[in-house]
Amino acid sequence: MVRVGIVGVTGYTGGEILRILHGHDGVELTYVTAHTMAGRMLTEVYPHYQGIMEATCHAFSVEEAAQKTDLVFSALPHGESMDVVPQLCEARLKVIDLSADFRLKEAQLYSSWYRKEHRAPAYLGRSVYGLADIYAGDIKEADLVANPGCYPTSVLLALAPVAGEDLLNWNSLVVDSKSGTSGAGRVPSPVLHFPECSENFRAYRVAEHQHTPEMEQELGRLAGRKVTFTFVPHLVPMVRGILSTIYVQLTKKMEEEEIRNIYSNYYSECKFVRLLPPSLVPETRHVYGSNYCDISLKYDRRTDRLIIISVIDNLVKGAAGQAVQNMNLVLGFEEGRGLDIVPIRP
Ligand SMILES: NC(=O)c1ccc[n+]([C@@H]2O[C@H](COP(=O)([O-])OP(=O)(O)OC[C@H]3O[C@@H](n4cnc5c(N)ncnc54)[C@H](OP(=O)(O)O)[C@@H]3O)[C@@H](O)[C@H]2O)c1
Repeated sequence: MVRVGIVGVTGYTGGEILRILHGHDGVELTYVTAHTMAGRMLTEVYPHYQGIMEATCHAFSVEEAAQKTDLVFSALPHGESMDVVPQLCEARLKVIDLSADFRLKEAQLYSSWYRKEHRAPAYLGRSVYGLADIYAGDIKEADLVANPGCYPTSVLLALAPVAGEDLLNWNSLVVDSKSGTSGAGRVPSPVLHFPECSENFRAYRVAEHQHTPEMEQELGRLAGRKVTFTFVPHLVPMVRGILSTIYVQLTKKMEEEEIRNIYSNYYSECKFVRLLPPSLVPETRHVYGSNYCDISLKYDRRTDRLIIISVIDNLVKGAAGQAVQNMNLVLGFEEGRGLDIVPIRP
């Protein structure tokens, strides 16, 4: 059994890692930490673990982590992870970091989008971007995996099959994403207060969301050229789920069937990415609670525009599920181990 810890178990993503690992037969959870809730029993924080799991949420200590674990998930807010992760790496633990702190390769890009200096820039070159369905080969060799953001996961999986094919007019790319409120984490804020966000639908951080450089970095890598595009996120009155609608013009006329073939070949070995038949469009409830990403394609011949729609559960494929998939790759397990979760229907 590999001994695993979760730093930040009391958050939404830490809590989801806890749920998924409970069904994983290759690892043993030996260490969990909290910040304001340090010292509490897990069952106080999560009463639904009554009779399932007994553990105390510790205050973080690198000595304790090194003594008790072989691999740690860091599920801390961005800006906090960059202090904890280097300590874990120095203690020779494998680390899967869910924050944005080690995703961007340039410290200057981080400071301009996240409005804080990076305090561990030396680790930016060392982390491997954990888009598990695309970069499995690199992730298998990694000690530090930067788990992708939730919006980037939905967008990159939707564009990866065609990004390197010289088929897209990149200047025309527009991405319109909608997220449920759990994307902002567990700490309450006025805009996430139920009377404010229910019965409401709004855009936010229009063309200036902090996930933009991460997507541009990774699309640039897939495309082999510099990519910039317009990204507009929205908040919808639901708890979980992201739906991204992507509009891009093609450089030549194609049959929709040809594009479908590119996607189905690209994802033929990926069990968690499902290309839907032409009769279906993705719905967030069809991936709710699961590690799936569902994708649909529509080629609008009148405008030469490809419309790609993708859905994920932001807390699972967009965070904890992909993090466990990355852990499996790092540890040499089958990548879907512990992730065979059927989406929940109401
Ligand atoms: N939510 C999503 O959909 C999502 C998706 C992808 C990636 N992410 C990223 O994953 C990370 C965790 O997100 P989340 O939504 O789970 O956040 P969250 O619900 O706010 O949880 C944050 C966790 O970190 C702990 N914490 C807070 N401030 C801390 C500090 N100063 N020092 C040490 N620990 C601290 C909290 O402990 P206490 O509760 O004890 O205070 C809690 O366990 C973030 O970096 C986020 O950007 C989130």
